[in-house]
Amino acid sequence: MLLHIFATPDEVLDRLAQYFVGQASQAIADHGRFSVALSGGNSPKKLYELLASPAYRNKVAWAQVYFFFGDERNVPPTDADSNYRMANLALLEPLQITPSQVFAVDTSLPPAEAARAYTQTIQAFFAPGEARFDLVLLGLGDNSHTASLFPHTPVLHDASAGAREVFVEEKQAYRITLTAPLINQAQAVAFLVYGADKATAVYHILHDARNVDEFPAQLIAPAGELHWFLDDAAASLVTKGQ
Ligand code: 6PG
Repeated sequence: MLLHIFATPDEVLDRLAQYFVGQASQAIADHGRFSVALSGGNSPKKLYELLASPAYRNKVAWAQVYFFFGDERNVPPTDADSNYRMANLALLEPLQITPSQVFAVDTSLPPAEAARAYTQTIQAFFAPGEARFDLVLLGLGDNSHTASLFPHTPVLHDASAGAREVFVEEKQAYRITLTAPLINQAQAVAFLVYGADKATAVYHILHDARNVDEFPAQLIAPAGELHWFLDDAAASLVTKGQ
């Protein structure tokens, strides 16, 4: 695991954008395409805008990039809460990404069906091999959830590599999430976490005793690389030397 800690969120975002470019170039050179699962919420919006900006937009062969979602809220793609909508406005539309390169969760289906359909979509994309994303981007909630792997939910103990529906009590809403085993099959996983409100959660994940029901992001231990991109505020409770 590698920690990349910088003073400001802008420095963190720029370093992660550089990492994204490097991973994309490496994957495309190696096997002709780059498959990335995007994270949702607020933190990554600026990353997506940066990647679509003049500073980065010409550094990736976007026609060979395939976009998935680490999780999705059970809302239409036009809803303000939709992770797809956020990524589409910040990244996909500005880059004029061809729709056939984007694999969104079909939230027009009931949650369990949407999860099953998404699992099939992912498996078909990677067939006949194992579903192995080149990169999974993740955020971290202040309650230590990641993707929609929320504390004390059954999906935390799902041993299958796929997408599952999860009812989130605190949100009183369903979500669809990649399971930890599927995320852990990835070539690389990168957390993007900034802000003092995340410091305690970061401590729980990186330093606290193992307790995945309380701290679900502890489940993330990919076969490949694991990177944390943090600002000083979010990393304030962890030792830099780790
Ligand atoms: C989501 C995300 C979720 C997010 C964390 C942090 O759909 O909300 O996938 O896991 O990464 O909740 O969200 P913020 O970046 O908004 O703090």
